[in-house]
Amino acid sequence: MRVGILGCGYIAQSRHLPAIREIAGLELAALCDLSAGTLQLVADYHNVATRYTSYADMLADDTLDAIGVLSYDHAADILAALRAGKHVMTEKPLAFTVGEAEEIKAVLAENPDLVLQVGYQKLHDPAVLWLADKVRGARAPRAVEIHDYGAILSRVRGDFGPIFRVDDLPDVGGAAVRTTVAATGKAAQVNPEVARRVAATLPATHASFVETYMTALMLGSHDFSLLNFCYGMPRQVLFAHTAGPKHVQAVLELENGALCNVDLQLGTNYGWWDERFSVYGDDDQVDLRFGNPFLAFSGTEIVTRSTVNDNDRTVASSYRSFEDGFKNEWIHFRDAVAGEAAVRSTADIATDDIRLVRDIVMRLAAPAAGS
Ligand SMILES: NC(=O)c1ccc[n+]([C@@H]2O[C@H](COP(=O)([O-])OP(=O)(O)OC[C@H]3O[C@@H](n4cnc5c(N)ncnc54)[C@H](O)[C@@H]3O)[C@@H](O)[C@H]2O)c1
Repeated sequence: MRVGILGCGYIAQSRHLPAIREIAGLELAALCDLSAGTLQLVADYHNVATRYTSYADMLADDTLDAIGVLSYDHAADILAALRAGKHVMTEKPLAFTVGEAEEIKAVLAENPDLVLQVGYQKLHDPAVLWLADKVRGARAPRAVEIHDYGAILSRVRGDFGPIFRVDDLPDVGGAAVRTTVAATGKAAQVNPEVARRVAATLPATHASFVETYMTALMLGSHDFSLLNFCYGMPRQVLFAHTAGPKHVQAVLELENGALCNVDLQLGTNYGWWDERFSVYGDDDQVDLRFGNPFLAFSGTEIVTRSTVNDNDRTVASSYRSFEDGFKNEWIHFRDAVAGEAAVRSTADIATDDIRLVRDIVMRLAAPAAGS
């Protein structure tokens, strides 16, 4: 399968391009970026001859079967790829609003031969599949906990090889096309055009929570897709609190009655990646401790503890899976396009995640008038 990549930024260079190049049956056939300088450096490094600065030109390339959509504000990019008859493997989130995601789902429904997979690499991590297998059909746990504190990216930069970035973006009507993460080394500010679209979906009482919404979406969508994969979507959001725009806490009621505590934060001053998904049963407990998504072999640690013989003793174990979710998701995408696998990280799951983020934001107490 010949793949063209839209967006040669941070995540493309650190994770996707090296992964694609290792997979039999996938050819990194073309690259596209608005930045001609970045494009040249990345394409030279990966030895890709076909280069586009215009996405429309890449979509017109009949030799490409699929597009890897790795741009930041990409709902329209996904729609264009589907309308051009290309299979799509897109980075998360699927879109920034439920309306945009529903439009993508509608176009996908009109093109049932096309495959769309969302880049939730955790759903292709063997540690997660092991947990999902264990919890499905099991009794409701006492509680589930999602803890995800994203590190400042500059603290981990330099660990994953060269990242090329040339500041030669053309003026595209004033809309910024990059996340500001790589440019500043700090946690992303919300792109103003994206902020405007998100605010338009919130009532006036909650329009000031756009940055909180984006924190929950950009960071939490990974964890919510995992929750959904294991337990289905929560029945309701019981409580939500924000201690500043980059920190959200919530309590979700799951379909099976258990509660899930959520704690998400961007921009901590940690030099490590602090992300856990924990399940507490009657006599056993499982933690998935995720490694830094930007590092290929940081692995996922499974830590289990169980009481045996009526609390006579505790059995604990720890295992680290080093399989790369990014590489696995591209293998799965290849197989889905070949009709040999069903898409796991679907547009439906990704749309549910955006809906949940909105529900969490709507549960926040509206700021007092005049504040
Ligand atoms: N799966 C993960 O763990 C993970 C981690 C980080 C980022 N992401 C996702 O990856 C996506 C990209 O993030 P990033 O940090 O790499 O962003 P980035 O800003 O570093 O890269 C985006 C690139 O796309 C290019 N681009 C944007 N619009 C374009 C267009 N119309 N035509 C051609 N080129 C265009 C930009 O010039 C830029 O080089 C985001 O959706 C983000 O949510 C996922």
